[in-house]
Amino acid sequence: MARYLGKETTRVDGIAKVTGKAKYAAEFQVPHLSHGFLVLSTIAKGRITTMDTAAAEQAAGVIRVFTHLNTPPFGEGRDMMGPIPHWALQSERIHFNGQPIALVVAETFEQARHAARLVQVTYQAEAHVTDLDRVLDRALPDAATQKTQPRGNPQAALAASAVQVRADYHIPIEHHNPIEPHAAIAFWEGDHLTVFDKTQQVNGVRDHLASCLKMPADKIRVISPFVGGAFGASLKPNYYPSLTAMAARELKRPVKVVFTRAQMFTGHGYRPQTLQRMALGADRSGKLQAIVHEAFHNTSTLEEFSDGTTQFPRQVYACANLHAPLKIAATDLATPTWMRAPGAVSGMFALESAMDELAYALKLDPLDLRLINYAEVDPESGKPFSSKALRECYRIGAEKFGWKNRNPEPRSMRDGHLLVGWGMATGVWGAMQMPASASITYRADGTADVASATSDIGPGTYTVMTMIAAEFLGLKLEQVHFQLGDTRQPKAPPQGGSFTTSSVGSAVHGAALAIAGRLLALAQQDADSPLKGAAAADVEMADGFLRLRREPVRAVEIAGLMRRSGHDAITEVFDSTPSPERAKYASLAHGAQFVEVKVDPDLGTVKVSRVIEITACGKILNPMASHSQEIGGVVWGIGMALEEATEIDHRYGRIMNASLQHYHVPVNADIHAIETIFVEEEDTIVNPLGVKGMGELGMVGIPAAIANAVFHATGRRIRELPITPDKLL
Ligand code: MOS
Repeated sequence: MARYLGKETTRVDGIAKVTGKAKYAAEFQVPHLSHGFLVLSTIAKGRITTMDTAAAEQAAGVIRVFTHLNTPPFGEGRDMMGPIPHWALQSERIHFNGQPIALVVAETFEQARHAARLVQVTYQAEAHVTDLDRVLDRALPDAATQKTQPRGNPQAALAASAVQVRADYHIPIEHHNPIEPHAAIAFWEGDHLTVFDKTQQVNGVRDHLASCLKMPADKIRVISPFVGGAFGASLKPNYYPSLTAMAARELKRPVKVVFTRAQMFTGHGYRPQTLQRMALGADRSGKLQAIVHEAFHNTSTLEEFSDGTTQFPRQVYACANLHAPLKIAATDLATPTWMRAPGAVSGMFALESAMDELAYALKLDPLDLRLINYAEVDPESGKPFSSKALRECYRIGAEKFGWKNRNPEPRSMRDGHLLVGWGMATGVWGAMQMPASASITYRADGTADVASATSDIGPGTYTVMTMIAAEFLGLKLEQVHFQLGDTRQPKAPPQGGSFTTSSVGSAVHGAALAIAGRLLALAQQDADSPLKGAAAADVEMADGFLRLRREPVRAVEIAGLMRRSGHDAITEVFDSTPSPERAKYASLAHGAQFVEVKVDPDLGTVKVSRVIEITACGKILNPMASHSQEIGGVVWGIGMALEEATEIDHRYGRIMNASLQHYHVPVNADIHAIETIFVEEEDTIVNPLGVKGMGELGMVGIPAAIANAVFHATGRRIRELPITPDKLL
């Protein structure tokens, strides 16, 4: 019987966060600190012809103005995933509007900001294109997606299908908008560099700094203990940490750089603009015969980025004939990046909207259509699922929601003068696991220090790792101290892909078992040990004792054992990797979403009055944090469906709503009843803890479920997000 795992646990870092004790990147106190402020380009493409920094250099407090004319060349940037070229302040070329072209360093932030406005720049502008729709003919096959071949003979099967639906779906650029702005502080001690950064991966930032600054990684320490939201915006090492470190090296002084809210819109990537051309073919009974899902999204001229839009949708329905290529087109914008449920939420908006259209074409209930095409095995590989409780999610969701009372006719349900619509959709995400390491130092006084260089961007990683360690060390939560976000700790993967609990949690679990194994070996040095002959798998730690699982009276008091054998503390480092057993199975996390909307026919406003989200993602370790993740996913899904869009004035290639005033996200008044329910899966294959990706999953089906509900309410099929009132009038 688990003591902590599976029980609601409040955040172990909660008090530090609400009292301000938790330090974010820009809050560290470093003596003799100077402040950098970025100057951004105001054209989208071309070259800088003149750069006059004289007035800025003479302004009060200014120490140096770095431009492409006086910034030393950077090395070829990379992190463990691949190249991340450092182009900032390296040439006169302009690749996008909002590109950094100078870094003004001064004694105070205000002085740097003031002087930044005195930098005079002239450009030779060239014609630019920032609209994906204008560069579709230049789109190239995405290298990653290209590897996945079509299944069967999709075009012929489509043509032969009795019922066909074809439609294009559009999603605009969207931005992450975390509350904490991106920031770095860099200081040098001899040839050692320390950087405080807002990041989802301290090791990746260290690798990037090492390659950009042409120095050994072991002379760099990156620290990032708290992150105020990131959602993918801090997944890839950004240009500002290496700029900050370069400036600190040149000036022989600590430097801090903090993005303004507006600078964040061109400084950390975004969800790319996508166009998806869907064609579904089915027989009269609703059985899918063909899925043709052709996606396009933009990248920059600097880097090729792909969010794999069509990858997860390939694995959702049993269908022998499928073609799902993704093509990428360069635009004169900053490079996009991963953003919450990257690829999946975009791809599933198209697939799940098209499934709803197909259900209407077939006069079938949308839920029945999904059950008819339920994938019993992975349609992509033919492998069995290590676990899959999606059918149970559909059943419980439909029952809770009252789906059977739905009148399928659009505009048939009302609440006073409001049009009521009910829609549903499927969600899917991965159950990935990456290599990760963790260390545990267990002391004779019954306390433990646990560490791994992971991140906690908000999901509750501090808490769940503390729970896992306490569970398997047999300690109380308050006896365990878990630390993260420092390259001095054992290596961890980036906090992304919703794979932290499976990856780092497996490492913490392994390290705890290794501690128990060490203690067992010590105990068995006593000739008359009650644990004589026991194997590591037979024992557990509980309340300061090492004991036999099946016969707990046979136990050794750990503190006494450690004292007798001359140990104040023992330390174990454990490297965990995915088990080979996993390769025989497909592992995915799933969910079902049921949504009610109320649409005002006079105003075109949409209120999401009720959402029921049922999720199957293995074991739930901390139900409190997990429900929060799913509720957050629903809220973001509502934002994506109804509000979020980065507006670009294509004449200037410039973002027009680079502020929280003009970039709309849901506020409390937009959010009504949300119920999240977990169907727990017993999955002994996926990893030792039986957990799957759950954070990003929560939003995946929501935009489609809302669009489907809006169709049911109004009879209007909106295929272009966000569903704003103008599109419904
Ligand atoms: Mo998430 S987009 O994997 O940070």
